[in-house]
Amino acid sequence: MAPNPSSAHERAREILRECPEWYHSIELAPGVVTPGRAPLAEWQRKFEALRLPDLHGKSVLDIGAYDGFFSFECEKRGASRVVALDHYVWYTDMSAYMIEWRDSQRTGAPMPPPHASRHWLPDLTPGKRPFDEARSILNSKVECAVDDFMSMDLAALGKFDVVLFLGMLYHMEEPLRAMRRLVSVVAPGGLAVLETEAMEIPGAPDAAYCEFFPDAELNNDASNWWSPNAKAIEGLGYAAGFKRVDLLSGPPLLPPLRELRSRVRRISYRYRAVAHAYA
Ligand SMILES: C[S@@+](CC[C@H](N)C(=O)[O-])C[C@H]1O[C@@H](n2cnc3c(N)ncnc32)[C@H](O)[C@@H]1O
Repeated sequence: MAPNPSSAHERAREILRECPEWYHSIELAPGVVTPGRAPLAEWQRKFEALRLPDLHGKSVLDIGAYDGFFSFECEKRGASRVVALDHYVWYTDMSAYMIEWRDSQRTGAPMPPPHASRHWLPDLTPGKRPFDEARSILNSKVECAVDDFMSMDLAALGKFDVVLFLGMLYHMEEPLRAMRRLVSVVAPGGLAVLETEAMEIPGAPDAAYCEFFPDAELNNDASNWWSPNAKAIEGLGYAAGFKRVDLLSGPPLLPPLRELRSRVRRISYRYRAVAHAYA
């Protein structure tokens, strides 16, 4: 039986009341969109910027799926199987954590990363609720895997035609090991799509660099560790065993405007890079 549109609306509004904190903007019912960290149009623009191949009949793994925007979008675009993998924010009561995080932004009080905070509740997976609610109301068949990509058994996870590694690389304590694990879950001839924080040092010798953030220097988030330059993104891919790495969005010719002021203090500028890596 087709879902009753008015009850879908009601359910969507109820979900928004019960789950106030969203990372992704997801249209749960016509006109009812979750209040993500950017408008829905911005997430859709990010999706298009990934320049994914035709997904019909393809299997997709979304590593670090969070609320699932990219997983649901791949399913909508015809992927035959989508697996959403995450553990870190799913283990955290993100609603409560973000209230404290926003306070810390205002007051400058130190804020521990989620796993060192009182909101880390792995047995309850409170942060997975938005994903689960969205999956349910969208009647989605996206599968989910609750695990740490860096320590889980990847052989049991299997191999996928398209693997999304979006907003992940800079969170990895060991980026090269992460890239080696990434190539191992891409089917032969398949594609890994990386989207990452990146940096460039204008005028520096042509070499691979990563900026390291020992504390919470990047976005007041202590779970951010590394920002590679374009050469380092390519180098990490080849060193990990990918056959070809294409940077789709490399460094802009000029630093982003918001970066100009901070460049007075910093020699590098930041941007977001997208790359395709072929196994
Ligand atoms: C910045 S968010 C990116 C979310 C989404 N991929 C996107 O681009 O919008 C990073 C995500 O990676 C997840 N994550 C971080 N380390 C992880 C790990 N070792 N295994 C699985 N997920 C991880 C976090 O829980 C979070 O959902």
